[in-house]
Amino acid sequence: MSGGVSRRYGLGVLTDTAVPIVVAPMAGGISSPALVAGAVDAGAFAFLPAGYLSADALRGQIEQTRGLVGKPFGVNIFVPNSKSSADTAGYRQSLSGEEERYGVAAGEAGWDDDDYAAKIDAVVDLRVPVVSFTFGLPGVEDVRRLKENGTQVVVTVTTPAEAEAAAERGADVLCVQGAAAGGHRGVFEDNSALPGGGPLYDLLPALRLIGARTGLPLVAAGGLSHGGDVAAVLAAGAVAAQLGTAFLRCTEAGTSAVHRDLIADGTRETTLTRSFTGRPARGLVNRFIAEHADAPSAYPDLHHVTKPLRAAALRAGDPEAMSLWMGQAYSRAEEAPVAAVLHMLMAQARTAAAALTGRLGI
Ligand SMILES: Cc1cc2nc3c(=O)[nH]c(=O)nc-3n(C[C@H](O)[C@H](O)[C@H](O)COP(=O)(O)O)c2cc1C
Repeated sequence: MSGGVSRRYGLGVLTDTAVPIVVAPMAGGISSPALVAGAVDAGAFAFLPAGYLSADALRGQIEQTRGLVGKPFGVNIFVPNSKSSADTAGYRQSLSGEEERYGVAAGEAGWDDDDYAAKIDAVVDLRVPVVSFTFGLPGVEDVRRLKENGTQVVVTVTTPAEAEAAAERGADVLCVQGAAAGGHRGVFEDNSALPGGGPLYDLLPALRLIGARTGLPLVAAGGLSHGGDVAAVLAAGAVAAQLGTAFLRCTEAGTSAVHRDLIADGTRETTLTRSFTGRPARGLVNRFIAEHADAPSAYPDLHHVTKPLRAAALRAGDPEAMSLWMGQAYSRAEEAPVAAVLHMLMAQARTAAAALTGRLGI
């Protein structure tokens, strides 16, 4: 074993934690270094999100998190998609009423790769022990470099076909994202004919079908809000459960006050929408989603177009034009430090498992 990573951390860090729960990467400042550090310190695994950051900012956050905790954590990277040929100019024009309302100009549509190559260099240089990808497959050469470095490679998948492609590319672990998940769907290519960007599998069928096809360790994500749900996906064959929304109200999370208040209120429904970024994502229903439901499939162009409007809405404390990403079971999220939420989930999981043994006559 040549890598410093394997000497420092041992192999299989994501799949070997004391607590079989992964705190999901939540980009946009939500999964802060403090949230990640608090989670791994409590025995779970957690990912720092690299999405929307520059590679230099990512390096800074990795160092900052390492300064807070001595245990391993992962980094999550967005895979760039091909440039969309959809009419983004027409969509931008349709937002003139929003520009007037919030007193800011919409942003310019434009494609970028989210600093992908420089982020791969950063996680290789800094020997990050686990790197997860979403929105597609990492390149062949990227996977080779990461594995040579002793890094465990995780690919987010939403269908059996994506899972097979990820296994062929050399993924060590698959993060299976079901339909109820909050935030962006990890679909490799957004097929605009379908609301979820591709076939919309619920978590349990996805786990069952993918497990039958690949044999890789599976991390289950999407709509899990209670320890009983964690126990359920472990019973269904997953090695761990990845929860995002359940940690949105954590003290250490960078979730805005408006976002937190609406979660606590718990009365609205969630929906899948392309309105804010041009890629399907699950968030709380609001006016913007209802009025711009015809958004084309064009990520990250629409992300750049709506960004100034979303920022202005946030400054005004107005939830009606903010992207309030959260999963279907959001109203169950508790306000507490991340260690306390993890402790509660584990207690619930043990209770659920113990109750099951009776029910199954074990
Ligand atoms: C606010 C928010 C931001 C998210 N950002 C990311 C991200 O940056 N990268 C990623 O791979 N997944 C991201 N996700 C999706 C999570 O990885 C995971 O699939 C999802 O949270 C699971 O569903 P749940 O929210 O119902 O627990 C995000 C989810 C939320 C709620």
